[in-house]
Amino acid sequence: MIPQLNHEMRPTLNTEDMARGQFVSGLRSFILHDLAADMRYAYDNRAAADFASQHGHAPKDGAEVHKALRPDPAFKVYSALRVEAQRMVWNSVGPVVARELYKLNKAAEQVKDRPGQVKLAPGFEVPRNVSALDVHLMPGSYTRGGDTLEAGAVYDQGLAVFSMGLMGENLDDIGLSMARYISRKFRDFKPTAILDMGCTIGHNTLPWKQTYPQAKVTAIDAAGSVLLYGSARAKMLGQDVDFVQMSADALDFPDQSFDLVFSSMFLHEISNKTREKVFAEAYRVLKPGGLMLHMELPPNDQMSAFDGFYLDWDSWYNEEPFYKAFRDQDTRTICKAAGFGADDYLQFVVPSIGIYGADAIDDAIAHEESQKVDQSTTGRLAEGVQWFGFGAWKR
Ligand SMILES: C[S@@+](CC[C@H](N)C(=O)[O-])C[C@H]1O[C@@H](n2cnc3c(N)ncnc32)[C@H](O)[C@@H]1O
Repeated sequence: MIPQLNHEMRPTLNTEDMARGQFVSGLRSFILHDLAADMRYAYDNRAAADFASQHGHAPKDGAEVHKALRPDPAFKVYSALRVEAQRMVWNSVGPVVARELYKLNKAAEQVKDRPGQVKLAPGFEVPRNVSALDVHLMPGSYTRGGDTLEAGAVYDQGLAVFSMGLMGENLDDIGLSMARYISRKFRDFKPTAILDMGCTIGHNTLPWKQTYPQAKVTAIDAAGSVLLYGSARAKMLGQDVDFVQMSADALDFPDQSFDLVFSSMFLHEISNKTREKVFAEAYRVLKPGGLMLHMELPPNDQMSAFDGFYLDWDSWYNEEPFYKAFRDQDTRTICKAAGFGADDYLQFVVPSIGIYGADAIDDAIAHEESQKVDQSTTGRLAEGVQWFGFGAWKR
């Protein structure tokens, strides 16, 4: 169910806002559990067999699963409702933020002198993957409202509705789970300079500061508006983090500046061409012994055709045009292409800290179960979610 964000930048919800949010969250939960199960049943019991009789073979990848399912009523119901529920997420929070913006501005003003900088880049040209699309059907994308707090507030409250409580009360489950995994698995690794790329409102940046309080943490994003909100939000939460407007494919930092270069849910929103530059930049700004780490949707080559299709649905229907092309890549190969040694690659699956608890992460490390991409729960925002991480050490 929809969490009440637990920080002072959040918009105040009245009873009607709460009810609307609960309804949309509940609808999404019904779609992602019940209707998804119906679609799976339809695939196993009719669509795959129909496809095989027409084509002489079973669907062999996500694109063929998509083709097999498209005529099926279970797929149509699932997809139509999921698109509408996605629009409802943003529509349910837009009016709340419009009403609350004045109060949010005042709240941000009150904390502006607390530690942590926010630097927007005058004249910066926001890349078209951010400005020219309504990314995941979010009206106005990450630049909605220009340089005001609107885009960040809509994203924060919208993600709370979208995530159905599965990302934690401050939407930081990914960051907390990843930071716990890295700090427990690599106990000698003590980063003092950390970069988060494509941070949006910094919800998954803050856990790195909490885990490594001595580190200087810098969060960048191409959209300035979300940084204004993210910085105020971080200050409200007492976290000293710098937020800087910058494109991750042209970092304005000297070589060897960071011990950890992180991103989460970022790579699937950029083109493969941009991603190549981002990895080259990550390699350049990492110190020797540093780690590039990405939390992402797991790659298609590590999943069944159906599970691959299930995650790629967003690419076809949720205004995520780069999603599938990213997921079709081999993660080890793309790290190697950026200069990292093949043996320095790492990947893991980490149980959500909010669902399974911190001890489960330690258990996963101890039993090396974290190396497997579990197809039914990895990367799916549904009960039992686990997060996929990959990256490489720079020698
Ligand atoms: C899905 S959001 C990532 C959210 C967040 N990191 C998380 O953990 O949920 C993707 C973000 O990447 C940003 N972005 C897209 N292209 C970028 C680029 N070239 N450089 C920096 N940020 C970019 C977008 O503005 C957006 O805020």
